[in-house]
Amino acid sequence: MEKVKLVIQNLNRQEIAIENEEKTIIFYLGEAGIDWMQSCGQKGRCTTCAFEVIDGAENLSQLTEAEEKFRTLGRLRTNERLACQAKAKGNIVISVPESLKLPHIKYSK
Ligand code: FES
Repeated sequence: MEKVKLVIQNLNRQEIAIENEEKTIIFYLGEAGIDWMQSCGQKGRCTTCAFEVIDGAENLSQLTEAEEKFRTLGRLRTNERLACQAKAKGNIVISVPESLKLPHIKYSK
């Protein structure tokens, strides 16, 4: 696997290396020490771990059943994915949605 980069645009474009495309985005966010909402404990039941896809949507794994369900219910927008469900096999740029920002973190643009 080539070097894959996860960039979080509104966290000062912080870059995280993805080394295993079988691991979820939230795994890498945790490994990098980034606080990220995950109310249901990464079980695909809450949508609080959602991120906006800025670039590289085609490099993400297919929607899981949980994500399909929330899309249908209108709780996951077409430009959003769940960090506990989605995996990346190529470079992606993501952003923390406005409504899911944590109060103690200073986000950039
Ligand atoms: S942490 Fe609840 S859906 Fe991802």
